[in-house]
Amino acid sequence: LKIGVLVSGSGTNLQSIIDRCQDGSLPAVISCVISNNEKAYALERARRHGITAICLKHTDFNGRTAYDAELVKVLQSHGIELVVLAGFMRIITPGFIEAFPNAIMNIHPALLPAFPGLHAQRQALEYGVKVTGCTVHFVDAGTDTGPIIMQATVSVEENDSEDTLSARIQMEEHRIFPEAIRLFAEGRLKVDGRKVMYLK
Ligand code: GRF
Repeated sequence: LKIGVLVSGSGTNLQSIIDRCQDGSLPAVISCVISNNEKAYALERARRHGITAICLKHTDFNGRTAYDAELVKVLQSHGIELVVLAGFMRIITPGFIEAFPNAIMNIHPALLPAFPGLHAQRQALEYGVKVTGCTVHFVDAGTDTGPIIMQATVSVEENDSEDTLSARIQMEEHRIFPEAIRLFAEGRLKVDGRKVMYLK
């Protein structure tokens, strides 16, 4: 399976996917990593592993539609079959979603549908929930609303800060994101409306 990973930041999720491709437990190849942010450390991680690293600055484009059209062009030129959003801090347009139907995955640091959008960990702390976690989902036209593929729970401790909670959620992200991609690579995810089933 040829995957393209879109990033904006440090790329610890990208790293977890790279590691599992390398140790053979994820039957996929990362054909390219694309960032909208030239300073993203994720680009450096890609280069270190000999993966094509591309920076497409959104500020060089005239609006979201033009930017996303270029993203689609680059992804298609690499023969990408699954697009993985691993901390890509941009909302994508319907044109992009239509180019990869049920083939764009995102990781969100909360148990959706709770706490969509930015600062999900802070939202969880402010709400006072005792349990939060992370969600891998297919991307649809809404913000963090697509069909849920996999979730993991994390307990909120009384002395948690945004940083300590985020760190424990990330440990689970690094486990379930490659796992969800593996099911996709094995052709075992079936989407029926909102529901995602795991085929044997
Ligand atoms: C993760 O917390 C993810 O849930 C969110 O963005 C962050 C990306 O972190 N969507 P990293 O760049 O993979 O380290």
